[in-house]
Order: sequence, then C-alpha cells, then structure tokens
Amino acid sequence: MCGIIGYCGHRPAVPVLVEGLRRLEYRGYDSAGVGFLHTDGLRVIKAKGKLCELEKTLARENVLNATSGIGHTRWATHGEPNEANAHPHVDHTGRLAMIHNGIIENYQEIKQELQAKGVTFQSDTDTEVLLNLISHCLAEDGDMLQAMSRALGRVEGAYAIAVFDAENPGVVHAARVASPLVLGAGTGENFLASDIPAFLPYTRDVVFLEDGELVRMDASSWEVFRVEDLRPVEKMVDTITWDVQAAQKGGHKHFMIKEIFEQPKVIQDCLCGRLGTDLDEVRLPELDDLPGTPKRIHVVACGTSYHAGLWGMYLLEQWARIPVQVEIASEFRYRNPILDPDTLVIAISQSGETADTLAGIKLARSQGLKVLGLCNVVGSSVARESDAVLYTQAGPEISVASTKAMCSQLTALLLLALYWGHGNGNLDEKIHRDVVHGLRNLPDLLESTLPALRDKAHELARTFSDVNSFLYLGRGLHYPLALEGALKLKEISYIHAEGYAAGEMKHGPIALIDPKFPTFAIAPDDELFPKVKSNLVEVQARSGQIVALTNVGLDLDVPHRWDVPRATGPLSTFLALPALQLFAYEVADYLGKDVDQPRNLAKSVTVE
Ligand code: G6P
Repeated sequence: MCGIIGYCGHRPAVPVLVEGLRRLEYRGYDSAGVGFLHTDGLRVIKAKGKLCELEKTLARENVLNATSGIGHTRWATHGEPNEANAHPHVDHTGRLAMIHNGIIENYQEIKQELQAKGVTFQSDTDTEVLLNLISHCLAEDGDMLQAMSRALGRVEGAYAIAVFDAENPGVVHAARVASPLVLGAGTGENFLASDIPAFLPYTRDVVFLEDGELVRMDASSWEVFRVEDLRPVEKMVDTITWDVQAAQKGGHKHFMIKEIFEQPKVIQDCLCGRLGTDLDEVRLPELDDLPGTPKRIHVVACGTSYHAGLWGMYLLEQWARIPVQVEIASEFRYRNPILDPDTLVIAISQSGETADTLAGIKLARSQGLKVLGLCNVVGSSVARESDAVLYTQAGPEISVASTKAMCSQLTALLLLALYWGHGNGNLDEKIHRDVVHGLRNLPDLLESTLPALRDKAHELARTFSDVNSFLYLGRGLHYPLALEGALKLKEISYIHAEGYAAGEMKHGPIALIDPKFPTFAIAPDDELFPKVKSNLVEVQARSGQIVALTNVGLDLDVPHRWDVPRATGPLSTFLALPALQLFAYEVADYLGKDVDQPRNLAKSVTVE
C-alpha cells in the first residue's frame, strides 16, 4: 500500500525522502516520486518501478538545495502503474504538489465539476482531483488551512495526504481519514509518514494523528487542527523505544527468513509478563476493560490473520467452551450480520491498518459490541478503535508475506483460550498445567529445531519447485495451517496452491490428483492422525506424490516424510507453521522470486 513521507528541516530533503521511502518499501509499491522546490520552481520527479529507477533520474539532477519536500511510493488503485499516475501530482496552476494514500470515492463528481470550470487533468487518479479541489479553494480563500478544510469537507473516502506549496516551500500540510499518518517531531526538523520506520534514524518522538486531523509543519514547529472547523487539537508526543536495527535484515538474505527465525523470540516476547516463570496461570490485565468472559466471539480478520483466527476458534471452543464464529472482514462488513451485544469481537491484524478489518470494528461498535484488538503495531488504527488491545509483540514485520506475526497471533489466541478456559472452569486442570509447562519450553524447542527444518525445506524445494500446483491438507487445528501453507506458497513462489480440510478432499480435489499434482499433508500425532492417514492412502492410490509433516515413530509410509519433534497438544502447531513457511520460502528463493516484495501484493491493505 502507498507510502508517504514529508520533510521540513535543515538537511538536503531529497535524500531524506528517498531513504524514508526505502524504509516504507515493505508496504509494496509500483512507482515512486518526490516533490520539492528547485531554484527554478516546483520540481516533481517520478519513475515507474522500484526506487532505484527514481534514483537514476534523481542522479541526473541537482537536488541537494531543497530542505523540505514530499515523497511517495504508489500502489495502484485508480489508473495503471505508470509515471503519469505516480505521485506527487501537481495542480493545474503548477503551484501545489500532493501525495495521497487511500481512495476518494466521489472523485468523479468533483472532477466533472472542476472540468466545467476549465480545469484539465494529466492523470486518471482520484488524487489529482482532490488536489485541484484544494487548489481551487486556495485560490478563493487565500489560506491553505482554510482551503484544505473546505476541500476535505467535500470528499468521501479514505486518505492520508501531504501538500507542498511552492509559494510557501518551508511548510508541509497533511491530513488523514482512515489511512495511516504519523508525525515525527525532531529538533530543527519535522517529518510526516505512513509509518514510523521512515523517519526513525532522525527522531523517536512521534505524534499519532487521528481521523479528521490536519497538520501544519515547518522545520521548527508543528500544529494539529480538526479538519472540520480548524479548532486546534492538543496532541501527546510518544517516544518509540525500538530501534531501526530491528527493522533491518540482520545478516539474512531476506527479511522473510530473518522473521521466520525470530519466532522463538516472538513467542517469548508474547508470553512476557503474561506467563512468567513465577506464574502458574495466564495474566492478561489488558482484558480488564472488557466485561469478563464473553458469551460468544466473532473473529474478524483478513489474510494470514484470518487463518490465525480460524485456528483460535478450535482452541477457544475446545478449552473455554465459548462459541466462536470466524469471519473474513470484507464479508462481515457487508453482510448485515446478526450481532448480539453479549458477543465479543476479536479483530486480528498485524498492521492494525487493514481497511476491511477496521470497517468490521466500526460496524461491531456501532451495534454496541465490545471489540478486542489483537494487533502488532502500537498506536495503529485497530489499536485505537478497539475497546481493549492485546498486543502480539512480534516487533516490526517487514516481509510482505506474514510469518512471525502469525506465530505471535497464535500465541496470543492460545493465551486467551487458556485464560478464559481456566477462568470459567471448562479447561481440564491437567491440560492447563501441561500446556503452560510446554509453552515455557516452546521457544527453546523451536530454536533448536529451526535449522533442521530449514535443511529439509531446502531439500524438498529442489524436488518440488517445478510443479504447477500443490494441495495442502490438514484436519482440526491443522486445517487452518493447511490454508496458511497454501497461501504462503502462492504469495511468494506464484505456484498455485489450495488448502483443504482433509476430509473434504473426496468432495472435489481428489479428481485432480495425479503424479504431477503433489499433496502437502500436516499429519502430526493427534487424535485425527488415523483420519489424515487414510486420506493420504487415497492420494497414494492415485499415484499422487506426498510430503507429510509428521512425528517420529508414527506409522505413515509416504515418499517424502518430514519428521518434526513432538510438542504438547496444540503446541505442535508452532513447529508445523515454520516448516510450511520455510518450504514456501525455499521454493521461492530457489525460483529467484522477489521474496520480500512479491508482485501485486501489499503488506498493509489500507483500501478496500
Ligand atoms: C495483506 C498482507 C497479508 C496479511 C493481510 C492482513 O494481504 O499481504 O500478509 O495477512 O494483509 O493484514 P493485517 O495487517 O490486517 O494482519
């Protein structure tokens, strides 16, 4: 999703902007651009493709004079990814440049109105329409704050925008509704960006902007106003404690492999303070703001977070005996669900900025339901919109394909199931004890297992990298893992893969089985193992190749057996998940794919 940066300060602005955009690359993009004041007036330089293309163009210019400006990486929504549609856009008078993340829903109507007044457009974007509306209001009002307030009062949709005015080049104005925007408050310099890493080398002091807020910043000051009536808003400055190193690759080839290997620490961090060595039960003070154990739960999420939610459903129902419904957020928000105020909504989101998940939260809250946000990014929109937040504490996840974030979401869901199950007396004491004990040992067990998992994934990747399609099968808790394994493979290797509940195989996919259509089964030692095993016999009877993630000593005769160590009950998931991630990673890397930034995908989907 688009990345935004704005800068006013004392350094050469263009390198600061480009470097900031590089740290926002994880969001995914197809073109990039910067806008600043040059000796001969407003200059906007843009390029299709990756940032190196933009840098090639910048290298031909003298860009070091400017000390303020705006920069953007674009993920196409309106209009194809080309230079004309890239941001910044310039208004018809040539005075203003603007960058935008989001979608202006009523842009066609405004465009017609402006065209009738003689404005011509250079691109197909909704952004250029909003910019010209601001420019039109500025011509009438003579004041940028007034102009932005009036123009933004007319638009419907989502936006984070930053506007650069060539007649007032030391100032950047910005505003947001439903798209992320944070201000970085430095010394003699200030920043605006979609995400904190963009300016973290320069300042740790950040101001989280809320929907409907407008900012004016220059090198030495910043002020926040309500878009609606320009009343000043008092803002808190938060200090960020994690450093930019945490967002670097740490010696690995890709962020994805680094993040897969961080999972033991992720589990430990998520348990921290919630299941200390001195505690026999889970402590979740974050839930104190909610009215006790919920009667029913709706989980709302997208992508990998949705798979985590499905997995959580099995445990919450089994241990806490709370009925759980898991919903894809984009479906939930539009299907007019029947919601009972006794129901707790758990919104799961790594980024905390996914538009559909946020819309699900708003819908639930508008009907009087309480929302628990399970998210990774402190101060994100999901965190702010929820009644209570359980942070998953996985640290910044850079690779577009989510790995360690899912591990942290599963850990948090497991803690919730233990907490509520123990609290309402439905969870057997022995299971509780065993799982708590197993959880404490889990980070070490995973740490010692990961190197061997990678070796096996490496070997299997070479055997299977030339197939066109893969079927992933699992039952019970391992069914959501089958979905996730298939999603990881298709996201980063572009090999088609389908995840299925093993018992459903007979109802369709079995027709596809042949020697060229392999099956990846998750078959650990649990009560459903005999069932999965008989599904695999059916695959073998049709000459299908099989990779099976299983445990040493289990009676399973398949050509590509992948034995992983045993873990207590559902904790086996935490060994199966990295195996699936590593297999996808090794296949994609072997095929030479852009592992961290797969084509067409965005890390954080902040528009519908
Ligand atoms: C995008 C990402 C996925 C992620 C999904 C939900 O599609 O590419 O990796 O699972 O969004 O994101 P969230 O931040 O809400 O967990």
